[in-house]
Amino acid sequence: MALKTILIHPDPRLKATADPVSDFDKELAKLADDMLETMYAAPGIGLAAPQVGVGKRLLVMDCVKEENASPEPMVLINPEVTWSSEELNTYEEGCLSIPDQYADVERPAEVEVSWTDLTGTLQKERFDGLWATCVQHEIDHLNGKLFIDYLKPLKRQMITRKMVKLKREKARA
Ligand code: NI
Repeated sequence: MALKTILIHPDPRLKATADPVSDFDKELAKLADDMLETMYAAPGIGLAAPQVGVGKRLLVMDCVKEENASPEPMVLINPEVTWSSEELNTYEEGCLSIPDQYADVERPAEVEVSWTDLTGTLQKERFDGLWATCVQHEIDHLNGKLFIDYLKPLKRQMITRKMVKLKREKARA
């Protein structure tokens, strides 16, 4: 396994629509493994392939919060939201591509998602709580959408300016 570099906003690769996965090969399994390792190391609860510069519809997540609970790594390929609840839920979201910035985002409280797993088998599950927010946030990444796109323009611009500054500092370091 190998750690991947996580792209920081703003980056055109984070704004692009990712392509569907058609080859369920060893390379894809390796990418999923590397992404899980990168996510846990960050640490984070979700990571989408575009965030590591790969324009494929693949995401990994693990929203287990309890410290002593066993991890529940999930790999979702070509995920689609097939149903959303009318009830909404607000979570303070963050993103590994927008470090140290958090804001409330309102999304459907429950969603049903279908996807293909690494063996090429179709899966379907209903998510609620943090898992529902996380899977929607990660699917957004596959469509070139970031959580700050839900915020008012002024707040979004403020965060983007901070990220530009952060990237400039990192480049200099
Ligand atoms: Ni994110």
